[in-house]
Amino acid sequence: MGEKNPPVPYVPQSKMFLWTAVVLIFASAVPTFAQYECTSELTFGKACSQNKTSTKWFFDSKLSFCYPYQFLGCDEGSNSFESSDICLESCKPADQFSCGGNTDADGVCFSPGDSGCKKGTDCVMGGTIGFCCNKATQDEWNKEHSPTCTKGSVVQFKQWFGITPLIGRNCTHKFCPAGSTCIQGKWTAHCCQ
Ligand SMILES: *[C@@H]1O[C@H](CO)[C@@H](O)[C@H](O)[C@H]1NC(C)=O
Ligand SMILES: *[C@@H]1O[C@H](CO)[C@@H](O)[C@H](O)[C@H]1NC(C)=O
Repeated sequence: MGEKNPPVPYVPQSKMFLWTAVVLIFASAVPTFAQYECTSELTFGKACSQNKTSTKWFFDSKLSFCYPYQFLGCDEGSNSFESSDICLESCKPADQFSCGGNTDADGVCFSPGDSGCKKGTDCVMGGTIGFCCNKATQDEWNKEHSPTCTKGSVVQFKQWFGITPLIGRNCTHKFCPAGSTCIQGKWTAHCCQ
């Protein structure tokens, strides 16, 4: 009672608008999952006598997914996780959907074969809603994610939901188990043994 209101700093309308715009741009450009460890560059660490090499997982911002890499044993980088699940949980927004190759959708749709999608695009379901994805890119992406081997068989790995092919980002990440051969695709790589 009887207290004075604290002085309100005078902010010109135009400046106020500018700040609102800046805040909004940042809020939309920086997704909540963009923690430092998910966006920092992949490093392989250093080889050392204390620790052997092991497989760890990193979040690839370009494809917005987690992939395995060979950690050298010491000096672990920040973009590094014990398992695919931990990596995805930490870095991948649960509701995020993108077309193959992490490309943008060209509209939404409601069921596979939806005629609402433009020519050259197909309806790809992402949960309850679908997205019109470039057909050629999507086909190529799907093919790369059901890899085959001309010699031997595809190296698989066990995830909580079942057994899937072991897909890495790049053969240079040395994620293939000893004795298998890495085959590089357009976006990702797999192993044959
Ligand atoms: C060796 O690995 C352990 C367990 O991951 C880690 O705590 C330790 O820091 C590593 N050693 C060095 C020298 O980085
Ligand atoms: C794999 O990594 C190498 C070396 O960093 C790079 O030159 C090449 O473009 C990468 N390939 C793919 C498919 O990303």
